[in-house]
Amino acid sequence: MLSQYLYISTAPSLSREEVDAILASSSRNNPERGITGLLLYNGRNFLQLLEGEESELKKLMLRIGSDPRHSGVSLLSNRSVEQRSCPQWAMKRVFIAESVESRKQTLDAELPDDLDPETRKMIVNFAVLN
Ligand SMILES: Cc1cc2nc3c(=O)[nH]c(=O)nc-3n(C[C@H](O)[C@H](O)[C@H](O)COP(=O)(O)O)c2cc1C
Repeated sequence: MLSQYLYISTAPSLSREEVDAILASSSRNNPERGITGLLLYNGRNFLQLLEGEESELKKLMLRIGSDPRHSGVSLLSNRSVEQRSCPQWAMKRVFIAESVESRKQTLDAELPDDLDPETRKMIVNFAVLN
């Protein structure tokens, strides 16, 4: 069964290099586990969308939940899906524009077209809040 998880967590002031290291692990591990998704970091919180087989996602969520680089992992949604929204992304880093005014537009261009509307709304709200 294909599932999609969306969660937020807290990580005050990780450096660019630390976030890059997380993305490097993701690109290394996710393809062999059939996991795809996207990651946003706003300087205080992560939001991550993960998709793949439920059994693989459960295992990854346990690892991520005990990762000391962040805390307070809080699941926003866990749904089963017919198909992936980010099939070509082992883990895409989605950047949040500096300017609050252009954030929504920039994200709309970067996020995959076939995200369901609720998930898109949660991601955009996360990025627009500051
Ligand atoms: C916010 C966040 C997101 C993460 N996302 C992933 C991921 O998608 N895939 C992954 O393998 N590890 C991810 N990790 C890292 C794991 O917690 C863990 O460190 C890693 O899987 C260990 O594998 P490695 O020894 O190959 O680096 C994430 C960590 C954090 C803090």
